[in-house]
Formats: sequence, structure tokens, C-alpha cells
Amino acid sequence: MKKALFILSLVIIAALGFTACMHKNMTMQQDIPPFGSESDVAYSQALWKVLEKEKLVGPDQIRALPYEGMEPHGVILEQLSTMVTVKGHTGIVYVKANYMGDGMTRSKVVNYPDQYLVAVTVMFKRENGYDPDNQDWFWVKYKSDGSLFANPKGVMLAGRVAKGMSVGCIACHTDADGGDYLFNNTASHLD
Ligand code: HEC
Repeated sequence: MKKALFILSLVIIAALGFTACMHKNMTMQQDIPPFGSESDVAYSQALWKVLEKEKLVGPDQIRALPYEGMEPHGVILEQLSTMVTVKGHTGIVYVKANYMGDGMTRSKVVNYPDQYLVAVTVMFKRENGYDPDNQDWFWVKYKSDGSLFANPKGVMLAGRVAKGMSVGCIACHTDADGGDYLFNNTASHLD
């Protein structure tokens, strides 16, 4: 009888422990925001350094002929794309310079790019499993100096932006033709 009681209490303790653990795990998962976390911000900074080194952003940026854009990106845009390696992972990156200002023209951008650059929006294909629901894209909206834009709640726009929400990078790019989150590789939105 004593032995049975002992085994029963062991089972109860184990069950309680398991429940507590599950609860902690669930809470931890809920606590990790889809974007704007410390590690997202740190990753975006590592990515920016690589983009600078590869001359995709910054004062030595390779220049492409700007094109007329559409909302929500700039009035005039410039896009560069290549493979880059960040923290040992190599993936494709799309870097979009967004230019805005009064009476914008493409020649203004060609002649004074720094004056009109308001944002650099980037998609980087991260390692398998980073965000399997959305093809592992890492989304960032940088200011021209590489610091980050934040949403109205002050959450930095880096990471899985804005996973689970009906507006934002992921929600809109889901509509791109080809189901790859990329608009400009099929360009069916252009004439
Ligand atoms: C309301 C829709 C919409 C939202 C929101 C949006 N985009 Fe885009 N994005 C587009 C469209 C349309 C294009 C293609 C036309 C162009 O170049 O502007 C595009 C192009 C891009 C490209 C070039 C690669 C491609 O798709 O061809 C990048 C990089 C990009 N967006 C990043 C972002 C990031 C990062 C965010 C969030 C901070 C974001 N976008 C939010 C509509 C959107």
C-alpha cells in the first residue's frame, strides 16, 4: 500500500512538472515577437554591414537607373539584387532604395541620390526554418544611415514583418505573382 502511494505521488509530481514546463514553453513562444526583437535588430545591423561591404547601400553604393515606383514604396526607386553571406548563411538579397521629396523626378535622384533617399527596404532569404510559413524571408526597413524604422507602436521593422497581421510587408508581398513574395521578378504589375 505504501509503495502504491509512493508511485502515485511520483506520477503526480511528474505530471505537475510536465504541465509547468509546457506552460513555460508556450509562454516563451508567445513572448517571442515575430519582428523587432533584440536578435532581429542585431541581425539587421549585421546585414547592413554586409550590404555596405558589398556596395549595395552606403556612400559607395553601386548605382542603377532609377524607376518610377508606387505606394507604399517611394515615388522613385532603385533596386539591386545579389547573393550575400550573413553570419555564415548565404542567400539572395533584394535591396530597394526608396526616394521621395517635392516634385520628384528621376534626374533629381540620379544627380542628388543622398538628398532624396528616405528608406532602404530589404528582403533577405534566411536559412531554412527561419520562417517556413513565409519562405524564410527576413524583412527590414532601414533609414538611409542604416538605423531602423519603427511601427506606430515603436516596434522596430526588422524580422518577420508583420507576420500574422493583415497589413505590412508579408501581407502585401503574399499577393506577388508566382507565390515567391517577389513582385519585380515577374513584373506583372508593370506595363
Ligand atoms: C501594400 C503593399 C506593400 C507593402 C506593405 C510592402 N511592399 Fe514591398 N513591394 C510592393 C510592390 C508592389 C513592389 C514592386 C514594385 C516596387 O518596386 O515598388 C515591392 C517591392 C519590394 C522589394 C523588391 C523585391 C520585389 O518584391 O520585387 C523589396 C525588397 C520590398 N518590396 C521590401 C518590402 C519591405 C521590407 C516591406 C515592409 C517594411 C514592404 N516591402 C512592404 C508592395 C508592398
